[in-house]
Amino acid sequence: MILPPHLSIRDGHLFIGEHDTVDLAGRFGTPLYVTDENRIRENYRRLADALSARYPKVQVLYAAKANGNLAILRILAGMGAGADVFSAGELDLALQAGMRPEVLLFNGSSKSPRDLALAVATDVRVSVDSLDELSQLNAAAASAGKTVEIAFRVNPAIEVPTHPKIATGLATSKFGIPAGQVLDAYREALACSNVRPVGIHCHIGSQILEVEPFARETAVLIDLARDLADIGVPLEFIDIGGGLGVPYRRGIDRAPTPEEYADAVMPVFTAGVKELGIEPALWVEPGRSLVGDSTILLTRVNSVKEAHRTFANVDAGFNLLARPAMYDSYHEVVAANRADSPAEREYTIAGPICETGDLLAKDRKLPALSAGDLIAVLDAGAYGFAMSSQYNGRPRCPEALVRDGDVALMRRAETIDDLITTMTTPAWQEE
Ligand code: LLP
Repeated sequence: MILPPHLSIRDGHLFIGEHDTVDLAGRFGTPLYVTDENRIRENYRRLADALSARYPKVQVLYAAKANGNLAILRILAGMGAGADVFSAGELDLALQAGMRPEVLLFNGSSKSPRDLALAVATDVRVSVDSLDELSQLNAAAASAGKTVEIAFRVNPAIEVPTHPKIATGLATSKFGIPAGQVLDAYREALACSNVRPVGIHCHIGSQILEVEPFARETAVLIDLARDLADIGVPLEFIDIGGGLGVPYRRGIDRAPTPEEYADAVMPVFTAGVKELGIEPALWVEPGRSLVGDSTILLTRVNSVKEAHRTFANVDAGFNLLARPAMYDSYHEVVAANRADSPAEREYTIAGPICETGDLLAKDRKLPALSAGDLIAVLDAGAYGFAMSSQYNGRPRCPEALVRDGDVALMRRAETIDDLITTMTTPAWQEE
């Protein structure tokens, strides 16, 4: 296994940045998410630089759904990122992190009247997903006496090599307006009194390890931009979404570099806008590629059981990292307190949840494990804590952030009290 540069093994212990994971687990307890701030900064800088070197007007909108901790959003806000937000909660977090409304895009295929009113009130751009939504948004803006800037989310009908549950640009997907209908949608928007179409938006899927689908997607958007120029839509941004994958199988998977991504997308984009004589900003919405590899999940072995397989039963399950159970996702695991011992046995890492599918990793060669050992699950920064739950009555674990020699919690552990704090007692149950 090839570790990413911010992870290392020193005297048999896994380190994240300058921090011994064994000490972190001792200090904060397990399970524990640990994120390396510098890694997020590097990931952001490399992508932003690769794109900006090829076109002057680039804006990164971090996909807040990947990891919505305010500390993470603050890091990215400080570097100039805006955000793709998918809910009132994500919008609030992005604003609290200091992101400017003009670089926030309120996405989503099912926005409520409250969501639309909030978008109007906060002056963010809205990615509109249907004609029904368009007329509701126009009415909301009119009643507030405002004009809202919008893009339409296009469904480009593009197949992508990823898990079907995270391919979003298929013709059959619930997202976006079919490319063949989108021109009429813009005509309708132009006729709306309180909506101003200024962008076009697309997102084809997630965990994509090839660049070619992004180039095809960009070509679809450029073709549409040509049609939009004909009908008089002044395009201020073209948003190609996120989707760049990370190499979860370290040493086996190969993820495109930011430069390779830029090299695939930018020639299509720059040639297209040059031909059209327009200079829209290029917006991108990366989530996983910025935060995925920045974070590990530390989990303690509670017991080892020899059965049909050898199970290492740990204290984190799909309540904290849903990806393996939900998408059969692969995450590398490291025996963090004996990381340089020979891998001599196969273990299946099983969580504490009362479901057969609660396995974090299957049949992995690891050093001989026993109760008390520490396991690190790698590449858990995207859609990890963000998709966690309190299932089985388990409070969520804390999240720590490290930067150089510093370490701090960026979320405290939930307690049993937190499980019941939102519950209320129906009157007829009161004594
Ligand atoms: N933009 C839009 C409109 C999106 O829906 C998403 C992700 C992104 C950007 C960011 O995509 P990324 O760069 O992170 O691939 N829970 C799944 C992934 C769901 C992705 C949802 N949309 C997983 O754990 O693999």
